[in-house]
Amino acid sequence: MKLRKNRYGVVGNPVSHSLSPDIHSEFAKQTKRALTYEKILCDADEFNSTLNLFFNSGGEGLNITVPYKGLAAEWVDSLAGHAQKTRVVNTVVKRENGFEGYNTDGIGLMRDLKNKGVRLKGERVLVLGAGGAATGIIPQIANESPELLRIANRTLEKAKILSSSMSSLFPEKDISALAIGQLHETFDVVINATSAGIDGKRLPIAQEVVKTAFCYDLFYSQNRSTLTPFCSWATKSGAEGISDGLGMLVEQAAEAFYLWTGDRPSGAEALKRLETKLS
Ligand code: ATR
Repeated sequence: MKLRKNRYGVVGNPVSHSLSPDIHSEFAKQTKRALTYEKILCDADEFNSTLNLFFNSGGEGLNITVPYKGLAAEWVDSLAGHAQKTRVVNTVVKRENGFEGYNTDGIGLMRDLKNKGVRLKGERVLVLGAGGAATGIIPQIANESPELLRIANRTLEKAKILSSSMSSLFPEKDISALAIGQLHETFDVVINATSAGIDGKRLPIAQEVVKTAFCYDLFYSQNRSTLTPFCSWATKSGAEGISDGLGMLVEQAAEAFYLWTGDRPSGAEALKRLETKLS
């Protein structure tokens, strides 16, 4: 008898570069589960029908990547955790009474920072960017009780809107916005959540800003011997430490896998294998 494999996948555009199938197949091995995990490319106007078709034909759970994390929040029947406020969804979980949207990016980032010995409690934290990626991680960062949290964006207005919605979510925290070009203070942790690196663009930031900081780039380089543009700039600027977002990718996937299956795989083990495969 042929074993029925549970179907999972990731929906995005573009999606061909996604490492999620490798990561989830590693988790499946670890937890001895039979599953398939596919990359699903669609246009924005096909997003709803793509999800309907996937689940109507037996799909069990989906990850959602750029640029559809906002559309996913509209598609689900309910939102869980911080996704209720941010409306940025990267994981869809099938429940008995409908589909529930989660965001596991923030948890993934926190776990990866912890794995690297970086704590945010009592620290001065700067997030660069005010788009979907920044919105998805900021509630988790605020939860860690940093001394202060600054959101800097090229378009100041967007940073202000995000900062004020996060301040109303966390009224007791010191959260404020500024324009990237206005940055002069120093920070302990700087997180790049802009998409500038995708087209190799450099952010207009003074080197002093990252001199005493651990710099984390949400983006990652598939070529492990090449730094992302942000990590490369941070290194040249004298940052105390750097990391790209491969570990976060693995840890957000581990949380999604747990939500879907109830099994908690080892992110650290999967990351080791992925690093070896990519190098
Ligand atoms: P994502 O879902 O990846 O966050 P997004 O919502 O389009 O994508 O947001 C992209 C972020 O990267 C924004 O904060 C954007 O700044 P603006 O709000 O000013 O557009 C930022 N960004 C993109 N390219 C940039 C560049 N070359 N320099 C500075 N910031 C940039």
